[in-house]
Amino acid sequence: MAADERSTDVAATRPRPSGWDPAAYLRYAGERARPFVDLVSRVGAEDPSEVVDLGCGEGTMTATLAERWPGARVTGVDSSPEMLAAAAASAVPGRVEFVRGDVRDWAPDGPVDVVLSNAVLHWVPGHERLLTRCAGWLRPGGRLAVQVPGNFRAPTHALLAELCLSPRWASRLADAAPRPDAVLEPAGYLDVLTAAGLSPDVWETTYLHVLSGADPVLAWVRSTVLRPVLALLDADSAAEFTAQYAAALRAAYPARPDGTTLLPFRRVFAVATRPS
Ligand SMILES: C[S@@+](CC[C@H](N)C(=O)[O-])C[C@H]1O[C@@H](n2cnc3c(N)ncnc32)[C@H](O)[C@@H]1O
Repeated sequence: MAADERSTDVAATRPRPSGWDPAAYLRYAGERARPFVDLVSRVGAEDPSEVVDLGCGEGTMTATLAERWPGARVTGVDSSPEMLAAAAASAVPGRVEFVRGDVRDWAPDGPVDVVLSNAVLHWVPGHERLLTRCAGWLRPGGRLAVQVPGNFRAPTHALLAELCLSPRWASRLADAAPRPDAVLEPAGYLDVLTAAGLSPDVWETTYLHVLSGADPVLAWVRSTVLRPVLALLDADSAAEFTAQYAAALRAAYPARPDGTTLLPFRRVFAVATRPS
């Protein structure tokens, strides 16, 4: 096992204050950046002045918004102190700033031109209400752009839920099992955004990630869907749970003859415009 994998193992069994680990999240930075880039490429705003990134994470992608729109003031909002500490390196006075806030109740000081949220809303139950609230912030011609993972029925999530609900773990982990209804189907987002008075463009994409190394799918989910589950366990229990989950993932995502492992990853996108 490589040294960085060992250190990730240790980190995963040691709960962090907010649970987010920028270094672990960035392990697959290229793969995780792609949907952000694909989402932003569909935002047709020409010269926005106020841009908000809800759930900005470690800020690298947020900073690219200021490059795309040189006249914009970009505000990244996140609730994780660890992610915000990492994001500080991407701050540009007067152009890119990061603020601590919970997207469920944060609001901008005034109207905005673009509200973006990439890979966040699946952590926010009932985020339909948040989308409706965000729609109300937009100036005429403004855009609301979101991307959520659409993989809650994929083996990564279904196997994790099955294990959390199994007799061995249910008493401690039943509430942490990923729920298939964490996100809406594409038509659900179309309906919510239309009801909010916007003109939505909704689509989905399945990325076929080619991963390498030992247990690469486990390494991928460690920094996301597995994180809140392990945070509920002591180190020994976390190791036992992880070993069981790793075995199930190996069977569901077998290594190919060339040593790589394919991880199909479905994502749902929406870009909705407030009519001028
Ligand atoms: C998977 S990361 C995505 C980060 C970034 N948007 C990106 O595309 O790389 C999810 C982020 O959402 C943030 N988050 C989750 N729930 C939140 C909430 N209720 N309020 C604010 N931030 C939240 C987490 O702290 C984390 O930084």
